[in-house]
Amino acid sequence: MERIKVNLRKTEDNSYEIVIGKKLLKKIPLELKKNNLAHSYAIITDSNVSSIYGKKLIEQFKKSKIKTILISFPAGEKSKNRGTKVIIENEMLKAGMARDSAVIALGGGVVGDVAGFVAATFNRGIPYVQVPTTLVASVDSSIGGKTGIDTLYGKNLIGAFHQPYRVYIDVETLTTLDKKEIREGLAEIIKYCVIRDEKLFGFIEKNMNKIFSYRPEILIPVIKKCCEIKGNIVELDEKESNLRKILNFGHTIGHAIENLLDYKITHGESISMGMITEGKIALQLGILKREDLERLHNLLKKAGLPTRFPVRMDLKKMMATMKLDKKARRGKIEMVLPKKIGEMSETKGNFAIKIANIQITKALDIG
Ligand code: NAD
Ligand code: GLY
Repeated sequence: MERIKVNLRKTEDNSYEIVIGKKLLKKIPLELKKNNLAHSYAIITDSNVSSIYGKKLIEQFKKSKIKTILISFPAGEKSKNRGTKVIIENEMLKAGMARDSAVIALGGGVVGDVAGFVAATFNRGIPYVQVPTTLVASVDSSIGGKTGIDTLYGKNLIGAFHQPYRVYIDVETLTTLDKKEIREGLAEIIKYCVIRDEKLFGFIEKNMNKIFSYRPEILIPVIKKCCEIKGNIVELDEKESNLRKILNFGHTIGHAIENLLDYKITHGESISMGMITEGKIALQLGILKREDLERLHNLLKKAGLPTRFPVRMDLKKMMATMKLDKKARRGKIEMVLPKKIGEMSETKGNFAIKIANIQITKALDIG
């Protein structure tokens, strides 16, 4: 028998910059041209963002004499599927895009996840630039390299880790968002405060109204802080073997509620209820103090996010759905729980904690 080893041990540098500011859209084409990122670009966006910012951005690329196409798909989570990916890939191939091309993901998390996944597999992987235009995408989905699509069997089940080449967050694009979308972003921002930053929690308590008034002098430092928190966690645990799981605070219960209510409530609403219920479990286990849970409760209410289930949930179905969660291990439900505002609980170096059914049942009953 002969054995040949293919040596692939390597150190890769996938570092990137997150640029946050005003009037950035104009600067993107020339900056990318200067950095020689690609020969041609596909701006991928959705039907809402296309008319507000897509057309402006492609004009800027054309002014800079860069070959660029604009591909738009119908807005909404329903488009985050294999069919959309195929349509985008065919458009790119038809336009002669190849290995020397790059993708610009212009939009919310749906666009970022689909466009990032297209980039991850097109010609076996090309670079992409995230240009988030929602608060959720600015503080969360544009950073960290998780890309993917939904399936009949669940959300985000097919995808790839593919880090962006750069992230440009132009806060002026956020001014066209509905207040409802700002609230969605606030749910994730409050999550960051709980997992890592008590000071930011206090800042949000004081400045909530200014966030709803799209004030750049508030939005920029808040987004920057959240990007630093997420960036730091991803640097330490890119593939979510342990620490990155803390980004899922509120999501184990949140995802189950979202799923059982057939996505009739938003993701932000469900993780708001999820954070409170998981906080109650932490309280029951003696991990979290009552005053911290009350402070979280008050901040979520101030943001206009729900803290109680809209209907009485079916406990059996909730438990069964949570067992399908990506963090569940051999049918046991695992959660990440806060120790106090700004710090997550850790047991023997592990952030995910196995939770006994009785604790979950108790917390859900109160909810
Ligand atoms: P979204 O992308 O559906 O955007 C929400 C709505 O806002 C859409 O109708 C969109 O057309 C519209 N919109 C976007 N920008 C706008 C603007 N500037 N002005 C006016 N309207 C605008 O939703 P989202 O909340 O941004 O993202 C949710 C998605 O992100 C989910 O699919 C979720 O799974 C994913 N996500 C991924 C990660 C990750 O790490 N990859 C993290 C969090 C969420
Ligand atoms: N949104 C969770 C993560 O990126 O890990």
